[in-house]
Amino acid sequence: MKFQDQVVCITGAGRGIGLELVKAFVMEGAQVVIADINADSGQAAARETSGTFVQVDVSDAASVKQAVQAIAEQFGRIDVWINNAGVAHKGLAVDLNPEDWDADMGVMLSGAFYCANQVGRVMMKQGSGTLINIASVNGLLAQKGRAPYCAAKAGLIMLTKVLASEWAEHGVRVNAVAPGVVMTDLVQEGIEQGGVTEDTYLERIPMGRMGDLREVVDAVLFLADSSESSFMTGEVLRVDGGWTAYHLFHPFSEAF
Ligand SMILES: NC(=O)c1ccc[n+]([C@@H]2O[C@H](COP(=O)([O-])OP(=O)(O)OC[C@H]3O[C@@H](n4cnc5c(N)ncnc54)[C@H](O)[C@@H]3O)[C@@H](O)[C@H]2O)c1
Repeated sequence: MKFQDQVVCITGAGRGIGLELVKAFVMEGAQVVIADINADSGQAAARETSGTFVQVDVSDAASVKQAVQAIAEQFGRIDVWINNAGVAHKGLAVDLNPEDWDADMGVMLSGAFYCANQVGRVMMKQGSGTLINIASVNGLLAQKGRAPYCAAKAGLIMLTKVLASEWAEHGVRVNAVAPGVVMTDLVQEGIEQGGVTEDTYLERIPMGRMGDLREVVDAVLFLADSSESSFMTGEVLRVDGGWTAYHLFHPFSEAF
């Protein structure tokens, strides 16, 4: 029970990686808050895991402020906050609308900032806590058709480093996890929209397979556990099967 009685809040926790994180932290004894914009999946996740659902739109600063204040009031503290909520608008940069750009930036970059802005105050007052941002390999390497997603995740990685620098002296650590491809509804929807197939992903990943949810969860648990990762802050932990280590190259093919 590594997180016995700790208060752990996860945004976008109604499904996918977030929901898997909820289950893992509950198993480790934490009181877990499922913070999601979708009330149906958020409430279902709360019933399934005995977490507490709080509805929030992370892209709305007022909604975030209200949610963080309510959580701090109800639980009295916040030990771990995970910015996991995500959306992905795909298309070549010349074909995307400003709304597509705003949506990705709003949820994954501005949203992470709005949460940090409020949660940081609570944690600094406590003199303890840890914030984890779920970034992506797309924040480290470019992918065609993903301008807003890649830009938001790259920004999130830099936000991680700035917050780590500002909060270190207050006993609060800030790190990021950069997953490679893990089969969730988000990835499945991307495949259904076309432009990428499961095989094209597998070909790109040196380990030849997608990641398991559990493999991302384990990295988050490690960064959240202040006894295990006590001297780590500002880190970007890649869980990508070698995606970012590998420079795709077809030496005997014309298909560069
Ligand atoms: N699945 C992957 O392969 C992969 C790889 C790298 C990074 N990631 C990142 O991991 C995170 C989770 O991804 P996933 O695959 O589980 O996605 P998902 O689509 O399954 O889940 C995303 C969750 O975020 C919630 N959400 C969306 N907008 C929100 C908002 N404005 N406010 C609050 N909640 C909101 C959704 O309701 C949903 O529950 C995302 O940040 C994603 O970019 C995923």
